[in-house]
Amino acid sequence: MTVTPTGTHISGVLHERRRFEPPEQFAARARLHAEQLAALHERARQDYLGFWRELAVSQLNWHKPFSITLDEREAPNYRWFCDGELNVSHECLDVQIIAGRGEKAAIRFEAETGEVRRISYRELYLQVCQLANALKSLGVRAGDRVVIYLPLVPEAIVAMQACARIGAIHSVVFGGFSALALRERIADAGACLVITADGGRRAGQIVQLKAAVDSALAERCESVRNVIVLRHAGNPIPMQADRDLWWQPLCEAQSPRCEPQWVPAEHPLFLLHTSGSTGRPKGIQHSSAGYLLNVKLTCQWVFDLREEDVFWCTADVGWVTGHSYVCYGPLANGATIVMYEGAPTYPDGGRFWKICQDHGVTILYTAPTAIRALMRLGDEIPARYDLSSLRLLGSVGEPINPEAWMWYHRVIGGGRCPIVDTWWQTETGAIMISPVPGVTATKPGSCTLPLPGVFADILDEAGEPVRRPEAGGYLVITKPWPSLARTIWGDNERYLNTYWRRFDGRCYLAGDGAYRDQDGYFWIVGRIDDVLNVSGHRLGTMEIESALVAHVRVAEAAVVGRPHEIKGEGILAFVVCRGARPGDADVDAIAQELRDWVAAQLSPIARPDEIRFADALPKTRSGKIMRRLLRAIGRNEPLTQDVSTLENPGIVAQLRGERAAGTP
Ligand code: WTA
Repeated sequence: MTVTPTGTHISGVLHERRRFEPPEQFAARARLHAEQLAALHERARQDYLGFWRELAVSQLNWHKPFSITLDEREAPNYRWFCDGELNVSHECLDVQIIAGRGEKAAIRFEAETGEVRRISYRELYLQVCQLANALKSLGVRAGDRVVIYLPLVPEAIVAMQACARIGAIHSVVFGGFSALALRERIADAGACLVITADGGRRAGQIVQLKAAVDSALAERCESVRNVIVLRHAGNPIPMQADRDLWWQPLCEAQSPRCEPQWVPAEHPLFLLHTSGSTGRPKGIQHSSAGYLLNVKLTCQWVFDLREEDVFWCTADVGWVTGHSYVCYGPLANGATIVMYEGAPTYPDGGRFWKICQDHGVTILYTAPTAIRALMRLGDEIPARYDLSSLRLLGSVGEPINPEAWMWYHRVIGGGRCPIVDTWWQTETGAIMISPVPGVTATKPGSCTLPLPGVFADILDEAGEPVRRPEAGGYLVITKPWPSLARTIWGDNERYLNTYWRRFDGRCYLAGDGAYRDQDGYFWIVGRIDDVLNVSGHRLGTMEIESALVAHVRVAEAAVVGRPHEIKGEGILAFVVCRGARPGDADVDAIAQELRDWVAAQLSPIARPDEIRFADALPKTRSGKIMRRLLRAIGRNEPLTQDVSTLENPGIVAQLRGERAAGTP
């Protein structure tokens, strides 16, 4: 399949003919049957607002009922249920305890060391109330921003829920991000407080989280008054007396009750920074009620979530998947979740499967990159574990290649578990296109069909719907939905430009290329902007380029993606050095230095797989770097572009002929 920046040549070349009907046993017990699903679709088509109104009334516990379903006055800045009031943490905790789930496990946590903790809904409630009171005692008020920089431990959920409880807006920063990336996010959010830990654990090592916070706060973060530090990994760290407080003594001193702060439906629940096609990350802003409605419903529709399920979404809370399907969706449904802090292959490739076995996981939701990595280790490892508790498998983050899908189905699911390949984004808040497991026949590699209330389409350059099967175009959503991101924090213009203006404000532009097959099934082919999808993480090429150019040796850099067996997309950087191009003697050392530099500046995820040095980058006469050309070079594809328009046509040979450097 090919995707070009302009989207004109998106077309499906992947011809996958296998089709799997929902397993009978599963379908018989499923929450949604064909007739119910059809009725939901029909209701949404007939009366779109009535459809969402009824669901918002029946699914959410309103402190003050709403009368306005959708406010379109400032479209495309849509507002849902805006005169109603509720509290998201109340939905996830109080409502569950009132429903009799006080002693039920909310979280089953396993540390990398093997330590297991079971936390009931009542215990979680208590911890959330105490931290919420602690935040209040430090002067945090509704609407203030709190940055959470924690490992994947239950306290990350406690921190998010505590913010929600008092109406503070959380911004979780993935613990794998560097101090610089953290600083940028703290500054952008204007946070008044940071919640972190001494360290996190990953593959037997300690990740120095507090040290990163200290270094982030050294500049441009004047808004931060306090840092709450969880004692977790036990590594020694300095505490700054007037600023830093240990979590444990701080919380133990607090009252175990904290009345939820009732907030308007549109009150921002969180910001989450994500990569865009320009250098600066975007603070995607989500609402309270609309967001919660979609994440709660999709747990029921897509994951068939039930009282007795043990739900394991392997995503880190630093990504949207961890927000929607670790922290908020499952808890709003009173489910038991599994959390694991650590590497999937530590101490060996059986860890994931051992966790499924030991915790009796019934629903497993993970990413294609993890599936591919574990698949490579062979069938014998999962065969050592009892995976019979599994009943449903999910995939998210990037297109899953049919081979990985088949392995997941056959080896992990034992052929009996439906697979839900779920398409969505940070900006959509919740799953948009996905099979409904008891109803939809699946095809390996396709996310199948939009959920009820989701109106997806594929448009061509001119904004006309693409009707011809297998012909590709821009994936769009033509009606607003409740969990749509409301804006980009502090930059509504950028929100409008990025998502709405391409097609005159008529529909939401997802930024993905896609096509439909003859059955109307959606197939996502990848991003149409300069955003890479490395191991399911969105990384802006510009961000990586900026990091490279910040190195003293680098004059210019261009970053492109190319297929990578495990990571989905790998990173190739073309670099022009200041002064002379490195000679054979030191090219590898410099490449290594630059790769490590990017990892330290941004995140190890962003570390380029290969660095190629050149005397110049290929540019158009107007000075624009020809990324399509670089992409083709990176993939060893024949060049179809007209290079005669280049300012420096000779450079192409050098870029292609260059010996690969920096590949370990
Ligand atoms: C990609 C993650 C194909 C897509 C929830 C999207 C997918 C981006 C799928 C969002 C899928 C996510 N099939 N591609 N099932 N799921 N993507 O914001 O390119 O981290 O635009 O949200 O991941 O990534 P984000």
